Amino acid sequence: MAATHGRKSTADSNVSEPHVLRGNISHQVQAFTDWSQARRFRILDTIKHDHSEIKSFYELIVSSTDPEEQTKYQNQFTWELARHTVGEELVVYPALEKYLDDGKELVRKDRAEHQTAVKEKLKTFQDMRSTDPRFIPTIQSLWDDLQEHIHHEETEDIQLLEDALSEQESLELSQSLNRTKLFVPSHCASGGAVDAAV
Ligand SMILES: [Fe+2]
Ligand SMILES: [Fe+2]
Repeated sequence: MAATHGRKSTADSNVSEPHVLRGNISHQVQAFTDWSQARRFRILDTIKHDHSEIKSFYELIVSSTDPEEQTKYQNQFTWELARHTVGEELVVYPALEKYLDDGKELVRKDRAEHQTAVKEKLKTFQDMRSTDPRFIPTIQSLWDDLQEHIHHEETEDIQLLEDALSEQESLELSQSLNRTKLFVPSHCASGGAVDAAV
């Protein structure tokens, strides 16, 4: 099994970035990139950081009893999860395919999990009023699925990718993910982020 997880031998080792981002980097993005570079977060660190932010919003939603507060965290959870999902699919999963021998198969499973564990349930959840009796059961069901997916990414897929990348490649991929996330619409209340993810 381990033998199939080796890094692909390829002459082109540059981490690619969505073409829509090239030549279109604002000062804000540049500042973020500089910060990210300064902190030197590798891709696994950045993914784990995203996951822990998403988990924090989930915990705030289920521990709150104030509907207004829950709606505020619902919007933040929705936006963070949607843009993380978009970023992974545009930047990280292509890297899995590129650098790992069995990357295509890993990505096929990850995309399938995104579809069922994230997109379908998130679309239902984002439009739900916090006073709806289905509100908490819906987010809990979403979280149960998502938690498994997150664990799988952190301990297997992204860990394998991290092992296959040089430090520089990992840092560049991490910056590319952060830049891509900045371009995902933030008007989550109207469903922009989820629509982008779906
Ligand atoms: Fe994912
Ligand atoms: Fe993830």
